[in-house]
Amino acid sequence: MVKADSGNLIIGNWKMYKTVPEALEFVKLLTPQIKDISSSVYLAVPFTCIHALSKEAQGSPLVIGAQNMNDASEGAFTGEIAARMLREAGAQFVILGHSERRRLFHEDNAFINRKIKRAVQEGLRPVLCVGESMGERDAGNAKDVIKTQINECLADIDPKSLATLVVSYEPVWAIGTNHSASPEVAQEMQHFCRELLGEILSSKVAKNITLLYGGSVNSKNAAGYLDQPDINGLLLGGASLSLETFVEIINTSCKTTKEA
Ligand code: PGA
Repeated sequence: MVKADSGNLIIGNWKMYKTVPEALEFVKLLTPQIKDISSSVYLAVPFTCIHALSKEAQGSPLVIGAQNMNDASEGAFTGEIAARMLREAGAQFVILGHSERRRLFHEDNAFINRKIKRAVQEGLRPVLCVGESMGERDAGNAKDVIKTQINECLADIDPKSLATLVVSYEPVWAIGTNHSASPEVAQEMQHFCRELLGEILSSKVAKNITLLYGGSVNSKNAAGYLDQPDINGLLLGGASLSLETFVEIINTSCKTTKEA
């Protein structure tokens, strides 16, 4: 099982970028720079990179994971990948329910719920993404959307197995658009998520769940989110592809560690 977070959790989501040689070059340059940091650093990489990068990251604080998986343990599902295959390759966590999966690949809350169950069963830390569209926000429904996503994605799961859950609030309108949510909106939504998690998991467990903000985070706006009481880290897309920007944001996160 992956270690508890030390300080803020910074997750880079590489999406469909970087070949194995490109990824190795990045990680070889990254690990010496994060040797003594007080944040936790994760990279969600393409499936093809998981094995090589998890070997490369051994002995360093860097944790390697996946961006998606199937809910079945194995079977005739052409093109899919199982949780235990990811574990075997060296993944320690998996992003589930990213809005690109929901929107482009029609994943619904019930499917994501089955994936979370499988991930925890196989010892992968689940990073659940939730977020409303602009239309839903404009209609005043942002909180209702988040509530439904959280309740349905976490339905019928033993709260004990969710102690290492990560929830990332990522409004769809902020992802890859340069229109990030304000720190105040991100805080309001993550405070709401923590209250919901308290109802599902107990307020004691919810207090320690790692909550992230994601959506057009860059080195200039990162600190504003990390200063918020209910935000324990960031999920970075574009900003994690550049070594310089990624390290800059990690360094910022080390300066804004909150009291436990
Ligand atoms: P972005 O992506 O940082 O490029 O907006 C965030 C995400 O996909 O989680």
